[in-house]
Amino acid sequence: MTGQTAVRRVLLIGAGSIGAVYLYQLQQAGCDVTAVCRSNYAQVKEHGFKLLSLRYGNVTYRPNKTLSSLSECAGEIFDYILVCIKSFPGSKPSLPEMLAPVVRNKSTAIVLAQNGIMIEEEVALAFPDNPIISGVIYLPSVQTEPGTIEYHEMLNLLELGTYPADAPPDHKAAALRFSELMVKGGGNAKVLEDIQIARWSKLLLNAAWNPICALTLCSDGDFLLSSDFAEELAWEVMMEVIALADKVGIPGVTVEVAESKFSIAKRRAKDGTGREMSMLQDIRQGRPFEVEAIIGNAVRLGRRHGMKMPRLETFYALLKGRYDAQVKERRQGGTSK
Ligand SMILES: NC(=O)c1ccc[n+]([C@@H]2O[C@H](COP(=O)([O-])OP(=O)(O)OC[C@H]3O[C@@H](n4cnc5c(N)ncnc54)[C@H](OP(=O)(O)O)[C@@H]3O)[C@@H](O)[C@H]2O)c1
Ligand SMILES: *[C@@H]1O[C@H](CO)[C@@H](O)[C@H](O)[C@H]1NC(C)=O
Ligand SMILES: *[C@@H]1O[C@H](CO)[C@@H](O)[C@H](O)[C@H]1NC(C)=O
Ligand SMILES: *[C@@H]1O[C@H](CO)[C@@H](O)[C@H](O)[C@H]1NC(C)=O
Repeated sequence: MTGQTAVRRVLLIGAGSIGAVYLYQLQQAGCDVTAVCRSNYAQVKEHGFKLLSLRYGNVTYRPNKTLSSLSECAGEIFDYILVCIKSFPGSKPSLPEMLAPVVRNKSTAIVLAQNGIMIEEEVALAFPDNPIISGVIYLPSVQTEPGTIEYHEMLNLLELGTYPADAPPDHKAAALRFSELMVKGGGNAKVLEDIQIARWSKLLLNAAWNPICALTLCSDGDFLLSSDFAEELAWEVMMEVIALADKVGIPGVTVEVAESKFSIAKRRAKDGTGREMSMLQDIRQGRPFEVEAIIGNAVRLGRRHGMKMPRLETFYALLKGRYDAQVKERRQGGTSK
């Protein structure tokens, strides 16, 4: 690695709602960012991104390089590969298969900025010498049309940590440098000793609200107001996650954390400002949603440990049914994507 002021080269995979905002922050921090786009490629190549935001104002910007496939930069060496595609464990090609042509140097750090649990292991197994940095995102943004990102709140936090937590010092240094870049670029970021505590704390929110919103077509706030049974359901899902975390030895995922996460939805119910969770948005648009990373990995882990998680298992079975039906609908051309 060269000195502190060296221009960092970043490869962004998944330049959507989250990736486009991080691209902006990284460029503000002076990085040279190559973005691999998919459905928004033509728009971004021609016109760049349009970010409508409270935090950064309304800005237009371009990646330093815009590519339509990873093979176009095979052989180039990057300091960071930032993965902001949705997490689909078990999909083909797998994430390690996608990354193989661009992970050419042991010092390239792979940053996984994605929801879910147990998403790091396959990447760490495939690239045992590279720093693997796990990222937990609090940043509500949505790509409303190709290349247009709406981000209407100030909330911006990226929690980072190495995978595994006891990685070598140079891996930890790479995580720290990445967080410094995000902060320099105008965001908030911090490096945690054990990122799994943060990842599982986020799971409390995602495992409860994504399935509930996706299956009811309600916002979190509206769901809480819908019946006397609503609050108990969401809360008991969080308790199942806490029991699982306890069983598998993830510390710090406590009732107090659940209470503080739960209070967000309660406040939104009171203010009438409920949020449509991403899984609901995906279902509305007929897009693949992260059922395996968020729910499937949790229920399978529970089963391996002989745990009963009736609510999470119910959510998983129903959502997997919906997921497969959507795949079939897409194949039959029922939806646009
Ligand atoms: N958005 C939020 O508010 C939010 C908040 C917290 C956490 N997260 C998490 O952040 C992660 C990213 O979510 P997101 O909301 O940014 O998703 P998104 O808006 O769907 O963006 C993902 C982008 O990746 C692209 N992509 C997918 N597979 C690709 C591939 N193989 N090669 C190149 N590009 C590919 C997609 O292209 P296509 O358009 O072609 O599919 C899309 O542009 C998820 O794990 C999500 O749960 C999101
Ligand atoms: C890997 O990257 C480092 C830092 O950029 C560089 O010093 C080294 O020469 C690279 N190794 C190879 C094989 O390209
Ligand atoms: C990358 O793009 C940004 C924004 O356009 C620019 O400020 C920066 O100089 C570019 N970096 C390189 C190395 O070209
Ligand atoms: C950004 O654009 C939105 C929608 O076009 C508009 O409502 C908002 O006032 C603009 N904000 C700024 C700071 O210009």
